Amino acid sequence: MYVCVCNSVTDKDIHRAVSRGVRTFVELKQETQVATCCGKCASCAKHVLKEAIHQHAREEHAVPAFDGLAAA
Ligand code: FES
Repeated sequence: MYVCVCNSVTDKDIHRAVSRGVRTFVELKQETQVATCCGKCASCAKHVLKEAIHQHAREEHAVPAFDGLAAA
């Protein structure tokens, strides 16, 4: 979905930015130009950024599922 209509920034763009190391709203603005025009998207962009950071952290700390087929 589009988060920032002015600069065509989507939620996927924000998730990609987090994957590249973005962790603050200032960094996100520099990386994607989100909220740099009218600014109406700032609140939504911050929300999506927070979600993306939490999701990224969960994925980084995920334990691979044990498949029971390890070498015996
Ligand atoms: S909608 Fe994002 S700056 Fe206008």
